[in-house]
Amino acid sequence: MARTLITGGLVITAAEETPADVLVEDGKVVALARHGSQNWTAEQVFDASGRYVVPGGVDAHTHMEMPFGGTRASDTFATGTRAAAWGGTTTIVDFAVQTRGSSLRAGLDDWHAKADGNCAVDYAFHMIVSDVSEPVLRELPGLVGEGVTSFKLFMAYPGVFYSDDGQILRAMQRAADVGALTMVHAENGPAIDVLVEQALAKGETDPRHHGEVRRALLEAEATHRAIQLARVAGAPLYVVHVSAREALAELAAARDLGLPVFGETCPQYLFLSTDNLAEPGFEGAKYVCSTPLRPKEHQAALWRGLRTDDLQVVSTDHCPFCFKGQKELGLGDFSKIPNGLPGVEHRMDLLHQAVVEGRISRRRWIELACTAPARMFGLHPRKGTVAPGSDADLVIYDPHAVQTLSAATHHMNVDYSAYEGRTVTGRVETVLSRGEVLLDRGDYLGRPGHGAFLPRSACQYL
Ligand code: URP
Ligand code: ZN
Ligand code: ZN
Repeated sequence: MARTLITGGLVITAAEETPADVLVEDGKVVALARHGSQNWTAEQVFDASGRYVVPGGVDAHTHMEMPFGGTRASDTFATGTRAAAWGGTTTIVDFAVQTRGSSLRAGLDDWHAKADGNCAVDYAFHMIVSDVSEPVLRELPGLVGEGVTSFKLFMAYPGVFYSDDGQILRAMQRAADVGALTMVHAENGPAIDVLVEQALAKGETDPRHHGEVRRALLEAEATHRAIQLARVAGAPLYVVHVSAREALAELAAARDLGLPVFGETCPQYLFLSTDNLAEPGFEGAKYVCSTPLRPKEHQAALWRGLRTDDLQVVSTDHCPFCFKGQKELGLGDFSKIPNGLPGVEHRMDLLHQAVVEGRISRRRWIELACTAPARMFGLHPRKGTVAPGSDADLVIYDPHAVQTLSAATHHMNVDYSAYEGRTVTGRVETVLSRGEVLLDRGDYLGRPGHGAFLPRSACQYL
C-alpha cells in the first residue's frame, strides 16, 4: 500500500478551511486529522506548513488540437495537460468535435485516439454537435452511456459549427430525455456575419473590429433565445464563456425564475478587455476569441455574478494559436484570425489573485475552479474536493510566492502569453494526481499516459 502524508497545511474546500494533515493511500485520500494528532507514517511526506492544501483544479472547457479556421490549436493533449499540471489543474474536460457529415461516434473515437496514452492529468469529454439530424440525435444515449454527458451547440459560426433554432430545440429535447446537459455558445452568428461583411467592406480589418462586430447585444439576444428554447424543451442549460454583462443579466433573470440555467466565464473576461484587442499593430490578434473580450466595465458585472452564483464555474476555454503563422492568418482581415486564447496553466493562479485582491473568498476560489465544475459535469466527489474517498488530486499552494506570467516561462505550446508581464501572488508548489507526484517545487515528474479517461455521470446540480 503506497502512503503519502501531507502535514501542516490549511486544507481549503468549497465548504470549509481546516488546519489538517492529509493521508493518501493507493491514490485516494483516506483521512484528514488535526495537525500532529495521529501517528501516521508514510513513504512520502510533504510539509505544507504555511501553505494551502487544495483540490486539483477541474478545467471544464479546453480545446486541445482543435481544428479551427484552417489551422489547429497548438497544444496537443500531451503539451496541454502537462501545462495544466504545472498550473495545478489535474482534470480537464475537452470538447470532442463532430465533423459535419460524420457521426458523433467518429468524432468521439478521433478524440479518444488523440488523448489516449498522451495525457499527464485525467480527462473527460463533452461533445460538440455540429450537424444535428435524426440519425445523429439517435447517437446521444450511447454517448451518455460511455460517460459523455454534455453536448455543445453553437448559435455562432454559420457554415462551421452553427445550428439553427429548430436544430437546437430538437437537440435540447433529446439531451433532456437522456439526462444530458446542453451547453450553448450563445452569439447570434448570422447577424455577426452581416456586421463582419460590412466592417470589411469599410476597410475595418484590424483585430479590434473583431470585438466591435461581435456585439454584446448579440450575445445577450442569443443567451435569451437559448434560455427560452431550453424552457420549451424542458432542458437544463449551461452557457459557456459568458463575457457580456447583458448576457449575464439574462442568466440571472432566468435563475431568479428558478430555471435550471447555469453559466461559466473565463479568466480572459475577468482580467483582459477590448484595450488588449486594440493594442498597436497586429498585437490585438493575440486576444481574439469568441465570445470576444469586452470593454472593462463588463468585468465588474462578471465578478459580481461569480459572487452571487449567477455564474457558477470559471473555465479557461483554452484554445491556443501561435502568433507566428497562426494568428497571422488574419493579417489584413480580422475574420480570418483563429479564435481562441491560451490559459489552461494560469486559471488557478489568476483566481487566487482575485482572492488576494478581495474579489472572492478562498472557499469561493476552490468552488469556482474545482468543486462546481466537478459537480456540474458529474465528477464529484471523485474530483473537486479533499475528502476521504476522493482521488488524491491535491495541490500544495504557496499563497505568498510572487510570480510573473510570461511566454518565456510558461509550459503551454504557444509563442505568447495573454498575460505577459502580469505579476500575481500565489503559486503552485506540489501537485499530486491520484497520489502520483506530477510536480514538486519546480521539478516536473509527470508523464504522458498517467492521465486516464473519466466517464462522467449526469450534472449533479439537477
Ligand atoms: O474563441 C474561442 N472561444 N475558441 C474556441 C471555440 C469556442 O467557441 O469555444
Ligand atoms: Zn464557444
Ligand atoms: Zn471553447
